[in-house]
Amino acid sequence: MQGKHILLGVTGGIAAYKSPDLVRRLRERGAEVQVVMTAAAREFVTPTTFQAVSGRAVRCELWDAAAEAAMGHIELARWADLILIAPASADFIARLAHGHADDLLATLCLASAAPLAIAPAMNQLMWTNAATRANVALLSARGVRLLGPAAGDQACGETGPGRMLEPLELAEQAATQFGGGALAGRRVLVSAGPTRERIDPVRFISNRSSGKMGFAVAQAAREAGAQVVLVAGPVTLSTPGGVDRIDVESAADMLQAVLRELPGTDVFIATAAVADYRPAQAAPHKIKKTSATLELSMERTADVLGTVAARADRPLVVGFAAETEAVEGNARAKLLKKNLDLIAANEVGHDKAFDSDDNQLLVLTRNGRHELPRADKLTLARGLVELIAAELAARGQLRKRGPARA
Ligand code: CTP
Repeated sequence: MQGKHILLGVTGGIAAYKSPDLVRRLRERGAEVQVVMTAAAREFVTPTTFQAVSGRAVRCELWDAAAEAAMGHIELARWADLILIAPASADFIARLAHGHADDLLATLCLASAAPLAIAPAMNQLMWTNAATRANVALLSARGVRLLGPAAGDQACGETGPGRMLEPLELAEQAATQFGGGALAGRRVLVSAGPTRERIDPVRFISNRSSGKMGFAVAQAAREAGAQVVLVAGPVTLSTPGGVDRIDVESAADMLQAVLRELPGTDVFIATAAVADYRPAQAAPHKIKKTSATLELSMERTADVLGTVAARADRPLVVGFAAETEAVEGNARAKLLKKNLDLIAANEVGHDKAFDSDDNQLLVLTRNGRHELPRADKLTLARGLVELIAAELAARGQLRKRGPARA
């Protein structure tokens, strides 16, 4: 999405309160966003809010002489690489379907050759009304892309279809409009978060992993165009837009889910902090404090990463290493011992990395070494995904060259 011009049309609906966040999400991905508001939208959110988050003066009126002199509406229509209407009200959808040009936004939609995507948001009865259904069908038939709506609780107190998709999901879907990411057409499987190993029905052994790095990696892979499946231990994070998430609890559950999802996978990225040991036997009932000391007998859990790396039909395998000292040496040893293609190592302990928002990574391949300097986890994840894509591309080249040499 870097450098792409997105014309974000905001129409009158309560979901407009989420649109400033959408602007931020689009800009995070490198897009330039020009907001155009209808009169009804201004009943919900002010242009000042959008100006602040987009960094550009908001356009509202067709007959605004000063704004027209700066960039005429036809010029603005040409500027757009994508027109995204979010929220798209029932009224605006109707006007769009019938080719109205009675305000700036409707005129721009009519006068632009850019792809058009709408994120409907309205009361569920308005959404299911035959008039809206017919208008949406007409727009879909003309190639307008429909993003959502989702179903759920509505601002009016009803429940049903008509909720605008969340900003993150919308930004994600908008990004796919431009296609061509470094992992386009690839399937990526990511493990994330801690695992919980049961001691008894109310207690478990776990660790401090927040899952943030794994979720960032899943988001970055999705941004790069991959189909992403995220197998997550117990965390409190929301799923990145466009990512399929499978929740698991223990190391055994995680292994099972990963093996089930493995067929067709091009890359497996193991960011999870899987418990290395689990109680040999989970007590069927709550353990009572009847003795002064308690001994738990522990046994090894399955190594998810090792199991995948040992398979004949293995994808590209990426591991993580959390080290408290001798980061590079330990990580390289782990790369070889676990038969990995790539390892991302970081230093932990002294409150570094675990549960923090930023980090730094040393990425090792069989023949290479890259340092990703301290940054937030999403920036690091994007850097890592670039390296993974490069490794994958290099392997494709090798495979192509292989038979020729033989
Ligand atoms: N991993 C896994 N399944 C396990 C344990 C680890 O998939 N049961 C993965 C992690 O997701 C991570 C990598 O293996 O990608 C970490 O390797 P590991 O050797 O377990 O690292 P440490 O726990 O740091 O190892 P050690 O205790 O040897 O320092």
